Amino acid sequence: MNKMSEIITAVAPVNIAVIKYWGKRDENLILPLNDSVSATLDTNIMCAKTSVCASLDFTENELWLNGKKDSFTSKRIINCLNKIKEIATEQKSVPADFLTWKVRVCSENNFPTAAGLASSAAGFACLVSALAKLYKINTDISAIARMGSGSACRSVYGGFVQWHAGVETDGSDSIATQIVPSSHWPEMRVLILVVGDTKKHTSSTDGMQLSVKTSAFLKHRVEHCVPKHVASIRKAIQEKDFTTFAELTMKDSNQFHAVCLDTYPPCVYMTDVSFKIVELIHAFNKQSGEVKAAYTFDAGPNACIYLLEKDVPELLSLIKHIFPSSNPETFVKGLSITEVSNPELLCSFSSLRQKEDLIKYVIHTKVGNGPEFINESHLLNGSGEPIQIS
Ligand code: DP6
Repeated sequence: MNKMSEIITAVAPVNIAVIKYWGKRDENLILPLNDSVSATLDTNIMCAKTSVCASLDFTENELWLNGKKDSFTSKRIINCLNKIKEIATEQKSVPADFLTWKVRVCSENNFPTAAGLASSAAGFACLVSALAKLYKINTDISAIARMGSGSACRSVYGGFVQWHAGVETDGSDSIATQIVPSSHWPEMRVLILVVGDTKKHTSSTDGMQLSVKTSAFLKHRVEHCVPKHVASIRKAIQEKDFTTFAELTMKDSNQFHAVCLDTYPPCVYMTDVSFKIVELIHAFNKQSGEVKAAYTFDAGPNACIYLLEKDVPELLSLIKHIFPSSNPETFVKGLSITEVSNPELLCSFSSLRQKEDLIKYVIHTKVGNGPEFINESHLLNGSGEPIQIS
């Protein structure tokens, strides 16, 4: 090996929107029609990990994704790499010949991609973080991650994050900013209910394009609803007002899925099981006499439940009761909890009880920080060859 850069390895988080991004004003630059708000999830539980390096000896750019060789031809990856090189050229952050070296990228998620769990957001945030360090650029990288996948720009920061739609045609003001760090609301917890699903859904990219073309309701949502939702949820987050936060989260998710149904032909992402989860959360909140949990659904049937740490044991016991599992030992993954037993509560919900294994498993996690760099467990070895880890 003649000349090779050091290997840079980053880990980056998943984020789950509470005010949804749905619809673009520019397909190539990935500019959204509306602002969105999300929470970044703890990388200790779910993350993407990416190693990158460059060498004079590499004859082409190469990519490995989750242990398999993939082609480096996707327009989105190339857009991200070119933008980073453009900034490196402007900033003269690396020698000019380094910019001509080819790169290798090896990336994997520590959670099943097939589960439809916002893997592209974590993946692109990770790729862009690692490449930005490789080329030593000094800039806000959210606008670059955005060119990989819109929602990825929010995974560049920890805590609660807002992606500003912006108004500029070049996308320079379509960036993400942190509303508050994860330490602001340490009690916030997230349960991801992974719903068994064999149906192939329309991708977010295609679904939102169809909604922009055909849904009059999308236009109304963008103009009249989202600005209010964003302003109110920002305030609720800043004031740690869980009730308002939870109600807005549920209403925005429901409105987003209403837009999907208003799309022609309709995009149907939620399943019967998703709606059973909605029913359970409303019944739980009613029985509690207060709003203790909020659901939100992306472009698939999995539920993401926001709640406070103190309420996790009770809701989890209820979920296990209503959605029994044939693998109870491995049903809940992630953060551990102290189990509670409240037979009376379970009994009062028995009419909602479902058949086994409608929910495959639950991931218990919390709000966390943005991408980080690690100096060990790289996915590329000293010669830039991929290391098969999983
Ligand atoms: C429903 O970011 O996956 O999860 O920008 O085309 O890559 P592209 O779409 P993507 O869309 C995410 C949509 C969503 C809502 C959200 O995360 O805000």
